[in-house]
Amino acid sequence: MAGLKLHGVKKSFGEVPVIRGIDLDIVDGEFCVFVGPSGCGKSTLLRMIAGLEEMSEGLITIGDRDVTWLPPAKRGISMVFQSYALYPHMTVAQNIAFGLKMAKLPKAEIDARTAKAAKLLQLTELLSRRPAQLSGGQRQRVAIGRAIVREPDVFLFDEPLSNLDAALRVQMRIEISKLHNDLKATMVYVTHDQVEAMTMADKIVVLNAGLIEQVGSPLELYHRPNNLFVATFIGSPKMNLIEAHVEKVIDGTAHVRLPGGSTVQIPTRGKAVETGPVTLGVRPEHLLVGKAGAANSFNGKVLLSEHLGGETMLYVSAPDIEQCVIKADGLAPQRAGDDVTIELVPGTCHLFDTEGRAIINGSLI
Ligand SMILES: Nc1ncnc2c1ncn2[C@@H]1O[C@H](COP(=O)(O)OP(=O)(O)OP(=O)(O)O)[C@@H](O)[C@H]1O
Ligand SMILES: [Mg+2]
Repeated sequence: MAGLKLHGVKKSFGEVPVIRGIDLDIVDGEFCVFVGPSGCGKSTLLRMIAGLEEMSEGLITIGDRDVTWLPPAKRGISMVFQSYALYPHMTVAQNIAFGLKMAKLPKAEIDARTAKAAKLLQLTELLSRRPAQLSGGQRQRVAIGRAIVREPDVFLFDEPLSNLDAALRVQMRIEISKLHNDLKATMVYVTHDQVEAMTMADKIVVLNAGLIEQVGSPLELYHRPNNLFVATFIGSPKMNLIEAHVEKVIDGTAHVRLPGGSTVQIPTRGKAVETGPVTLGVRPEHLLVGKAGAANSFNGKVLLSEHLGGETMLYVSAPDIEQCVIKADGLAPQRAGDDVTIELVPGTCHLFDTEGRAIINGSLI
């Protein structure tokens, strides 16, 4: 087992820079997730770690080994792809053992490792089947088994669950997390599914256009986003953004005027807040349906209410606020057309400057 370090990693395809300078430290045993929009460079970065893509600049170390110029087979990594890439004419056991056979390990050793991986992945009953006789989830487990038997220092996963249906994704997500707990291996996992990122990661790396926007634990990114990109990328429904104005800052309180004219008083907690335009960010679960005339509130009209059972999404419009989403109680009585007062809790509000950088994050963590 070993950690993984990237130093000044860059990649251009021809003239086009795709990875524009990545420094990252993934510690031994960590589950690190790369997230970001399509085309931001997640797979390219992972393929460079694997040695499948040549870097334009930079250095990669695994443990204390500089692997920058090593071929994939010498890096101590195993990679699991979205397309399982199993050999159709081989059985499950042969697929799992293939890499070990190529490496000319003794048969007894190959059999022992295959049996151990099959047991871990609940494939023991299926070892003599061929891929065509397996479900999608079972095929992906075989692909993971093939990675496990090589006993790599680092596991790399590129969207391994994308081809599975919703229920199976949830199940496999839990299985991969359990596997990580059992193996205590360093894992780097690419996804654009932010629920996967939030639930599986020790550390999330948010990528955007070939650069890191922020690195942190799931809850750090959720509650303390550095900028609007991270604030709106993590969380579903998205954080509500309201164009507002800091009118004055007195005794550690910013008086923030909302478009409709009402004011929210937000503690600055030692941050330098200047008067002028800001974007106020607040997550759907932190907006409350309040009483008319409540402090730190604005009035709006319900456009749509979605009853999901355990919770209700209320889509509300207000003067000069196109739409905001409120995550309310499952039995919330509000219906489309109702007038509502929406209350903000100052300690849950984020303020971003005109460049999109966070000035204040909520005080929840
Ligand atoms: N071999 C290549 N030649 C030229 N451009 C490439 C090549 N491979 C990738 N790219 C470009 O590099 C950028 C990053 O691609 P990459 O596959 O890393 O994105 P990604 O973040 O994995 O996206 P997705 O979520 O869609 O898988 C994209 O703009 C892509 O078009
Ligand atoms: Mg990709």
